[in-house]
Amino acid sequence: MSEQDQPDDATIEARLHEQDYFRPPTEFVGQANVTDPSIHDEVGDFPEGFEQYAELLDWDEHWDEVLDASDPPFYEWFVGGELNASHNCVDRHLDERKNQTALLWEGEGGEQRNISYQDLYRRVNETAAALRQAGVEEDDVVTVHLPMVPALPITMLACARLGAPHSVVFAGFSAEALAERVDAADSDFIVTIDGYYRRGDFLPHIEKADEANGSADRDPETLVWTRHDDVHDDVGVSDDYTMMADLLAENRRETVEPVSRDAEDPLFLMYTSGTTGKPKGCQHRTGGYLSYVTATSKYVLDIEPEDTYWCAADIGWITGHSYIVYGPLSLGTTSVMYEGTPDHPHKSRMWEIAERYDVDIFHTSPTAVRMFMKWGKEHVEGYDFDFRHMTTVGEPIQPEAWLWYYKHIGDESAVIVDTWWQTETGGHLITNLPALEDMKPGSAGKACPGISPALVDDEGDEIEPASGKAGNLIIERPWPGMLQTVYGNDERFIEEYWEDFSDVDSGDWHDWSYKAGDGAVQGQDGYWRVLGRLDDVMNVAGHRLGTMELESAVAEVEDVAEAAVAAREDAQKGEVPDVYVVVRDGVEESDAVSQRIVTAVEDEIGKFARPANVMFVDDLPKTRSGKIMRRILENISNGDELGDTTTLRDPSVPEKIRDQIHGD
Ligand code: WTA
Repeated sequence: MSEQDQPDDATIEARLHEQDYFRPPTEFVGQANVTDPSIHDEVGDFPEGFEQYAELLDWDEHWDEVLDASDPPFYEWFVGGELNASHNCVDRHLDERKNQTALLWEGEGGEQRNISYQDLYRRVNETAAALRQAGVEEDDVVTVHLPMVPALPITMLACARLGAPHSVVFAGFSAEALAERVDAADSDFIVTIDGYYRRGDFLPHIEKADEANGSADRDPETLVWTRHDDVHDDVGVSDDYTMMADLLAENRRETVEPVSRDAEDPLFLMYTSGTTGKPKGCQHRTGGYLSYVTATSKYVLDIEPEDTYWCAADIGWITGHSYIVYGPLSLGTTSVMYEGTPDHPHKSRMWEIAERYDVDIFHTSPTAVRMFMKWGKEHVEGYDFDFRHMTTVGEPIQPEAWLWYYKHIGDESAVIVDTWWQTETGGHLITNLPALEDMKPGSAGKACPGISPALVDDEGDEIEPASGKAGNLIIERPWPGMLQTVYGNDERFIEEYWEDFSDVDSGDWHDWSYKAGDGAVQGQDGYWRVLGRLDDVMNVAGHRLGTMELESAVAEVEDVAEAAVAAREDAQKGEVPDVYVVVRDGVEESDAVSQRIVTAVEDEIGKFARPANVMFVDDLPKTRSGKIMRRILENISNGDELGDTTTLRDPSVPEKIRDQIHGD
């Protein structure tokens, strides 16, 4: 860490050395949703223990069997059960809390919208009716490319009401990335918006749908929300598109009966980066997923209906799906949504919102915590808010950042849970139950109830539990929140997640283990520390990116002969992409080429994936069979020892690259 990243309070360091564990405040424990350690045994009574999760929901048809594991890894949860997610997140709360706020939305410029459960019911019904009129039928995949505006969760819940799986594409993704996901999901609908605000500017978001429509193989029907009552002056909307406002006007006060979905019917797809150039459509089931996120919202996030809960993530990623929309609304709480960035128009924006709405539970990423820490505690001081519970998710949190968060944001009176999970896992798998387990800065905590993490070496041999040795993190038993498959590609599902550490010929689920792709260590105290990805996936400011995806974007540039992407450690963002490029013969290594490479990444993926450095080299380190050794490039980027270079075709290449880059 550089000077300026150091905690502004020198006692923090000292404190960490003195104290490994922090007890949850007594006041917290006194009111927590879970205070009895027997929950681990109850839920761990596999698989029946998970029934208590499903019992948190309303079912149209009770399940016959908790788990059908007869065809691993295609597990089925709550077999025979039927339910609707929109009913569970909206309708079932009307009797008790129709006037309570469901969504508290704040625009970047300070506009406020307070949507009660009754309003949400109306709007979700009318939106479902509008989508139905536009031709959406049960099982149609609807691609949703919306920013953080109420239309996003409303569209998701309307899709769920119709039984049409949504595939939300993060608004920051480019037109190309959108088109790729429309085609991959066989989707005939895009739902978008004219634009939204970022740092005071109105972004003409619809342009991405325009371009995607031009480049996708499919010809999706495009439905357009508007950020204000009318289309923004700076934006043109194609005559081929349908305005949501028109459809909604025709469907005013219309209601749509929630479709009873089989527990195993998909609720949504979420595309995420894997180890190949193409993103994978993680397919999540209705019954198991909703049970799992509802239960973990209650037990881990400690949400109660009367709370004001704010998860400052984007709904376009899994965290927002599970822990802004489905989990919190299923529990009937008030969920805060903010459109903008944390530093616009000033660096106290988050705390202003926390104070304004009296937020009880706050959820963010380590990248955000490091940023708040860098800005300094003076931007927090003077704001009157009092969190009872705080969360981090998405990357490991350094003990220094943890303690800063604990002290300056939590005022030493809030619990913190560090939650480890993935797009694929649906919900938290490793984290503390906050009233039961002491907090340990830098550690994600213990396994969630009913979850069985373990470590294996690269050969698949089990590493002794709690040995302090690092290994590949696997999950030995299935759980209700897990992905069903990779959309349309069962083989890839098996290849990516199972075949390395399972006996793929076995029909007995005991022989199958889910591979997380992360390295981890379990200490003697049973606490887990997740070390980061072991595969070609990087974590940039909590956003997951595949190095192969970046490389295929760079390869689009004509001047490039060959390219490889390596993850450079970054004090602020965790990791950032470095691009190593060999140009074609006759091409001059120039700023113009660098710029074309950066633009290609922005166009193919999105601005959030922009390379940190583009470095021209004469050659890339390759094995004798021609495989690029990214690990060596990573060591060069990070200024580490090169490591073993004997397997390289030309062992002198790394040194040459180092000389070229560092000029010594
Ligand atoms: C990383 C985000 C350390 C990990 C919910 C994982 C974490 C990837 C943590 C999934 C944590 C997530 N500590 N690392 N608490 N949480 N990760 O799919 O490498 O966007 O595999 O899901 O983020 O990222 P994804």
